[in-house]
Amino acid sequence: MHFEFTEEQLMIRQAARDFAQNELKPGVIERDEHQKFPAEQIKKLGELGFLGLMVSPEYGGSGMDAISYVLAMEELSKIDSSASVVVSVNNSLVCYGLEKFGTEEQKQKYLVPLASGQVHGAFCLSEPEAGSDATSQRTTAIDMGDHYLLNGTKNWITNGGTASTYLVIAQTDVAKGHKGINALIVEKGMPGFTVGPKENKMGIRGSDTHSLMFTDVKVPKENRIGEDGFGFKFAMQTLEGGRIGIAAQALGIASGAFELATAYAKERKTFGKPIADHQAIQFKLADMATEIEAARLLCLKAAWLKDNHKPYGPASAMAKLFASEVAMKTTVEAVQIHGGYGFVKEYHVERLMRDAKITQIYEGTSEIQKIVISRDVLK
Ligand code: CAA
Repeated sequence: MHFEFTEEQLMIRQAARDFAQNELKPGVIERDEHQKFPAEQIKKLGELGFLGLMVSPEYGGSGMDAISYVLAMEELSKIDSSASVVVSVNNSLVCYGLEKFGTEEQKQKYLVPLASGQVHGAFCLSEPEAGSDATSQRTTAIDMGDHYLLNGTKNWITNGGTASTYLVIAQTDVAKGHKGINALIVEKGMPGFTVGPKENKMGIRGSDTHSLMFTDVKVPKENRIGEDGFGFKFAMQTLEGGRIGIAAQALGIASGAFELATAYAKERKTFGKPIADHQAIQFKLADMATEIEAARLLCLKAAWLKDNHKPYGPASAMAKLFASEVAMKTTVEAVQIHGGYGFVKEYHVERLMRDAKITQIYEGTSEIQKIVISRDVLK
């Protein structure tokens, strides 16, 4: 067992760290306050190859492994999770699904621009009445011979307004239950496809979250991914990798807050000495460091399993469950260490605390991860 990164993995980590410091940090507070999507930053991340980090160079990607993806996601998320969620969704939920299950035509038409960062995509599973219970899809895709007629509403869609390619999960045959669900590639601008207003969120406020409405949208048959009825399994398999990305995002939020809290504890003086010299603060920092390291190892283990073509669903659920709890706990403590300064925006930790919460909710709540894990341990 090796606990060392390769030169290439370290290079990716450094590149992501530099990008976060130089490109994401300036303006991150304002973007959060004004709910501004980091459009310029995403364009640059695309040019640098981060939007198709794990896609083969044959399809415009960077050809990196999942370990590198975890390292990049941690560094970007230390500073700006509204930007890193675009990297995660585009890589794991959109590009991965197209590369693994798409036809050659679908890959040339949709994957190449997505992986090379010219555009980004969205993954559309959640509905007003189908969040955790993902088999209860109300959006319908009726088979009309040469096309599907798509009708319904999707909720909480990351990149909902700014994406150009949408992978939409919909029910074709209700009688077949989850075996009657399909995954369709929908393009922005298809007649009948409208984007609702941007959600006003507690955290990751710069990210672009919308409802999407489909009214008699004609989706060509060649835009279905996989065989008829493969849509639910497509979504589940894609989410397994997505959860590695969100686990690494949670890890980044936690380690970003930890770095800020440590630096502040060394500077801030009370009772004649830096607060880092008080055991109350030292014990908090020791707990934070230990939990962050455990979360990091779970993320890397899940990524290693994926890279080595071994089953990684339960491992990615464990990583996401644990890392998101660590993100929540660590950010609350980081605010506490900062005292009153932690409560104001200038010190960054209050934003990290708000951003942490979504990592316990999206791509499956903590309860969903426990379902996945308990089914595995009880099988
Ligand atoms: N891989 C392949 N197939 C899988 C699978 C997996 N990981 N998980 C389940 N399946 C298959 C099962 O084998 C079964 O197929 P068969 O009948 O042929 O055996 C079928 O799918 C149905 O499985 P279950 O009976 O286990 O389904 P369930 O209704 O009990 O649901 C669940 C399982 C884990 C709760 C699932 O519904 C789930 O993950 N829900 C949460 C959905 C979610 O994460 N939503 C987040 C939205 S995406 C998002 O947030 C993106 C974003 O914008 C950031």
